[in-house]
Amino acid sequence: MSGGSNDTQPFISLRGVHKSWRAGGTRIDVLRHIDLDIRAGTSTVIVGPSGSGKSTLVHVLALLTPIDSGEYLFNGSSVYAVNRWWDVGIRQSIGIVFQDGKLIQNLTALQNVCVPVSHRGIWPRQQKKLAKRALAQVGLLDRLDSYPNQLSGGELIRCAIARALVTEPVLILADEPTGTLDSETGSTISDLLFGVVKEQRTLVVVSHNPLLAERADRVVSIRDGILDEV
Ligand SMILES: Nc1ncnc2c1ncn2[C@@H]1O[C@H](COP(=O)(O)OP(=O)(O)OP(=O)(O)O)[C@@H](O)[C@H]1O
Ligand SMILES: [Mg+2]
Repeated sequence: MSGGSNDTQPFISLRGVHKSWRAGGTRIDVLRHIDLDIRAGTSTVIVGPSGSGKSTLVHVLALLTPIDSGEYLFNGSSVYAVNRWWDVGIRQSIGIVFQDGKLIQNLTALQNVCVPVSHRGIWPRQQKKLAKRALAQVGLLDRLDSYPNQLSGGELIRCAIARALVTEPVLILADEPTGTLDSETGSTISDLLFGVVKEQRTLVVVSHNPLLAERADRVVSIRDGILDEV
């Protein structure tokens, strides 16, 4: 799938997207009919208070959380109006770094990074080659056989970034990737993420780290379910 789109058409477009969660007897309207256009090859930082719906938005963009109403256009196609196979195609062109990493604890770094390419009819030897290339990009070639509980916080995030990059996605989503890291490690993560934008990919990252906000093309905030430019 092409990572680009023409100048007139946004790469990603949310139109009147509404999402509510039910917790116990109450309904929380997390995203209130939001509109968001993102151009190909750009970087966007999302900020907002805890619980404001940043992760929900990222999961919606990753097609991991269905929306209640509205429309999601990915490279001009409505992702909810097309068939499942096309959906799978879109999913495979999205790489996500989850807020809590979500690495599989009983797999090594190399095996974790192989997971996204393990069910695509790719030979194991080729899977490992792709995974090693992604791990090399994040500087983790010397930790291939380490399990997640043997990795530092910064190494865990770098491994999660490698797993997000292994399919060569055109859209990279990262949820608080520099969360509790010291500023030097945070700056390495920031360099890695913004490096991928240079390769004509699109980056959407949830972060309150000023290092990332300064480098982003754009910062948007979510508060009370409403999205605003910052
Ligand atoms: N699966 C779920 N079921 C019910 N409620 C949920 C679910 N996921 C999130 N929520 C609620 O939706 C709201 C937004 O959650 P979300 O994780 O998107 O916030 P966030 O902005 O990412 O917060 P943080 O900065 O703490 O990571 C919260 O009130 C949360 O409790
Ligand atoms: Mg979150």
